[in-house]
Amino acid sequence: MSNTRKRLVMGNWKMHGSLAANATLLDGLVSGAARAGDAELAVCAPFPYLAQARDALAGTQVSWGAQDVSIHAQGAYTGETSAGMLADFGCVWVLCGHSERRALHGETSAQVAAKAASALAAGLTPVVCVGETLADRDADQVECVIGDQLDPVLALGADAVRRLVIAYEPVWAIGTGRTATPEQAQAVHAFIRRALEKRDAGQVRILYGGSVKAGNAASLFAQPDIDGALVGGASLAADEFLNIAAA
Ligand code: 13P
Repeated sequence: MSNTRKRLVMGNWKMHGSLAANATLLDGLVSGAARAGDAELAVCAPFPYLAQARDALAGTQVSWGAQDVSIHAQGAYTGETSAGMLADFGCVWVLCGHSERRALHGETSAQVAAKAASALAAGLTPVVCVGETLADRDADQVECVIGDQLDPVLALGADAVRRLVIAYEPVWAIGTGRTATPEQAQAVHAFIRRALEKRDAGQVRILYGGSVKAGNAASLFAQPDIDGALVGGASLAADEFLNIAAA
């Protein structure tokens, strides 16, 4: 089957920003969005800034989303945010199982799959994040770890899986300045692609994340199974983010 996957470049602002700083950033994204060419642009903002993102981005070619979602639709879950609430604010995307949530909040792969399911039920596109630690890599366990992270998500069934985006983010490359080489990333993306193909979902987009910058984006995007990027630090400056999308 030919590749019909549209490149997607998504910013994950993490816990950064302020009303003033976001206004500058969003303004820069909107005014420079044409530089992304055919690539799709998106940002995942902290919850309090989703209304600001919506107000700045509605009607533009930049879409927005959130960084986490509850597995529950509503109820006594203090501090949680449901997928329906995100949809109310026009979110298109939601990150599920970012490695920082897995590591700092103990999210399991089963919970990540439940989050993806609740996002899908509200019409959002989950961006399911997977990735190995340096210890996993050194122990030659990359495929085993990624496979275990993917399994509960793939078990949601082909109809659900076809509506996902997957992000491969090696933990050792996040915020470290140390990017996976294009070949290292491609090897894992190809492994993920094969797992998706077994579910008849080979056209799902697989993003790479981990110290992506304008200077290394083109060589990553040249790989056959890398369909875009999930960008942390470099998504906080409009110019750098757009340079990545233009790569
Ligand atoms: P950095 O681009 O800052 O390494 O972060 C990657 C990431 O975690 C995106 O979700």
